[in-house]
Order: sequence, then C-alpha cells, then structure tokens
Amino acid sequence: MDLKISAVKTYLNDVFRSIFRYGKMPRDAEGQSFAVFNNLFLHIHPVKVTRHSLKPTYTFGLGLISAVLFLVLIFTGVWLMFYYIPTVDEAYNRMLDLRSSTNFGFVLRNVHKWAAEAMVVFVILHMARVFFTGAYKPPREFNWVVGVFLLLLTFGLSFTGYLLPWDQLAFWAITVGTSIAGYVPVMGEDIRSFLLGGDIVGQEALIRFYVLHVVILPGLMLVLLGVHFWRIRKDGGLAHPSENEDASAGGGE
Ligand code: HEM
Repeated sequence: MDLKISAVKTYLNDVFRSIFRYGKMPRDAEGQSFAVFNNLFLHIHPVKVTRHSLKPTYTFGLGLISAVLFLVLIFTGVWLMFYYIPTVDEAYNRMLDLRSSTNFGFVLRNVHKWAAEAMVVFVILHMARVFFTGAYKPPREFNWVVGVFLLLLTFGLSFTGYLLPWDQLAFWAITVGTSIAGYVPVMGEDIRSFLLGGDIVGQEALIRFYVLHVVILPGLMLVLLGVHFWRIRKDGGLAHPSENEDASAGGGE
C-alpha cells in the first residue's frame, strides 16, 4: 500500500516538474526570476513591481476585471454557439428555446448579455483610470493607442452581438445603426453595404454580423490583448510617480 502511495507521489511530482521546471518554491532572486520566466501565466507579470502599483486603489483592478469579463464572454459565447443558428428562420426561435426549454439556457444567455454590458462599462472606467493617473504618457503612448483599438473592438462586439437574437429590437437597432454608418463622409455607403451585404437588414447581414461577432472581432481582440499585456510588461510594469523624475531617460525595460 505504502509502495503504491509513494509511486503515485513520484508520478505526480514528475507531472508537476514537467510543467513547472523548478523544484521547491525558489527563495533567491535568481530562482524566482527563473520560475517567472518559465511560466506562461507568471510571465505576464513584470519581474519587479513597485510598491505604488500594488496599491489596490491605483488601478481598482479595472483592466483585470475587463479581461475576466472577456473570458466569461468567450466561455458563455462558445457555449451559446452549440444552440444558436444564424439564419433568419431559426435565430429568433433558438433564442426563445434558450429562454424556456434549454437547461440553464436562460442563465447562460443572461450571463453573456450582462457580462457584455459590464465589459463596456469597465473598459471605459479603465480608460478613465489610465487617463487620470497620466499612464498614457511616454513610454506608454503606444499601449494607449492599442487600448483605443481594444475599446473600438469592445463596441464592435456589442454592436454585432445586438443583431443576433433577431427580434424587433435587434432588427430596428441595426437598421438605425447601419443607417448612421451610411452618413460617414466619403465611405459611408461602402461601410453600410459591407456590414449589411446589401441594402437591407436580412440574411446576408445576419451571417456577416455573426462571423464578425464570433470569429473576426474576438480573434483581433485576443491578438491585441496579447500585445497590450506584453507592452505593460515591456514598459516596466504599471506607471509610477518616480518615473517622472527620469522621464527624459525614456523608461522601459
Ligand atoms: C478589452 C479592453 C482592455 C483590457 C482587458 C485591458 C487590460 C489591462 C490590464 C489588465 C492592465 C493592467 C493594469 C490594470 O489592471 O488597470 C492594463 C493597463 C493599461 N491599459 Fe488596458 N485594457 C483594455 C483597454 C484599454 C483601453 C481602452 C485603454 C486606453 C485607451 C488602455 C490603456 C492601458 C494603458 C496605457 C495601461 C498601462 C497603465 C499603467 O501603466 O498604469 N487599455 N490594461
């Protein structure tokens, strides 16, 4: 019996060591850096953080909350894809089925919907926090621009998702929204027909919004989030007041 337990322990230890390449929890600076560099998730964090940026009231965790909401949206969104059919005959019925006859369908749909609305709010709050702490200044100006694209993608995901239930609210909201897009100078009509795949909100529009909503925009979001997090790390972690003293040196890692 003892032999079996120790064989299982050795096996689990081997599995652990094949994933985490260090032995016991490292106590020295070199070992700790090694552990961080060799772990995908820890690697997101800078090797050193300032006391200032660890204060919860500095970020209020707004960026992190936005990222977690995005993960919730991916999880519930993929789950919803098992039920939803993007055709004008099926979409609305599928949405009604989700609300009434699918196990946990009501919860699933509402978690997706509320997380999407919360994400818009938290991304805007995060942007305001970055602005009011002056964290958009060099060397973080590029990450601010990446952030602006993340904001546009967040709006784009909300807008494209709005049509998918294919109810009256969705239909008229997208009719009005795409008409407004039609007033963009010079290329307004092109944007409108790119979104609708024609002149009216119909099957072509539904399939376009669906593909944009489930593949293209989330894909772009994942890539840009990767750049955003990598940039935070390369800009030397979060902005802190002492940086202003050596701002002329350019900062960064
Ligand atoms: C999907 C949307 C976004 C996500 C998930 C996200 C995530 C994050 C996270 C986790 C951080 C680390 C600090 C924190 O938690 O506040 C951060 C920092 C930062 N974000 Fe975002 N962000 C998003 C959108 C934006 C937007 C819209 C902007 C600005 C236009 C922006 C600009 C920045 C900048 C400049 C930093 C560095 C802040 C500092 O050094 O104090 N981000 N972001």
